[in-house]
Amino acid sequence: MTTRRIIVREYHVRNRRLERPLRLVFLSDYHDARFRPYDRPLKDLVNSLRPDAMLLGGDMIISARVRPGTDNWYRWPASLFRYLCRRYPVFAGEGNHETRLKAVSELVPCYEEYCEAIKDAGAVLLRNESADFCGIRIFGLSPDVSAYRKFSMSRLGTEDVAGLFGQEKAPDDRFSLILAHHPSFFKACAGWGADLTLSGHLHGGIVRFGSRGAVSSDPSIFPKYSGGIYRDRKDPEKQLIVSCGLGAHTIPLRINNPPEVTLVLLEPDS
Ligand SMILES: [Fe+2]
Repeated sequence: MTTRRIIVREYHVRNRRLERPLRLVFLSDYHDARFRPYDRPLKDLVNSLRPDAMLLGGDMIISARVRPGTDNWYRWPASLFRYLCRRYPVFAGEGNHETRLKAVSELVPCYEEYCEAIKDAGAVLLRNESADFCGIRIFGLSPDVSAYRKFSMSRLGTEDVAGLFGQEKAPDDRFSLILAHHPSFFKACAGWGADLTLSGHLHGGIVRFGSRGAVSSDPSIFPKYSGGIYRDRKDPEKQLIVSCGLGAHTIPLRINNPPEVTLVLLEPDS
């Protein structure tokens, strides 16, 4: 499915803990104004998918463009948040770009201003927190900036996820979904008990060959989780969906890799 150059990737997730079907639209790696020409097509496409809720996976901004004392660097993401919040419940996690602002002291006020703007819009911002929605629990994983160190695999473990959420395991009485920006967090999230992890971060790679993306900030040329749906090797019921994302930054190239809106269809397994 395409609208201009944006594509929709659709994934079905069946699980016995789900009480009812849910249509979730997941957006990741919007990366600010480079996406400006697609503003209207993106909104039209999202509306056509009739979401029960929107999930935003982080990296809505480009941290290198943040200018203290101005709102130019978050005007477009904030505008999109306001638009979506007027129509749908919106749950937002953080990516490495938002996380980086917290780690640079002169950018902390900018980070706080941005968070206020999206909360004022009506979004539920999940920073190592959770929210219940239609029988499922949605978590937002927000580790320290060191978990995103470039060209190194994440050291995040199951015990780190438990520590960040302040609970030993995922709830066993309901379906749990984690917004975890970096797909390398999947093993830790699945080990903690999350039924579904939603990630982005690699933008599908700079160039894409079929289902594989190549060249990114991942240490390998062909990252294991560049885009698609994956199962945990130990517990195949635990799944990961990785979005190829909407935008780009630094090297603004997406060869054979159109911007992606991800439709996640949750279905009770009866
Ligand atoms: Fe990222």
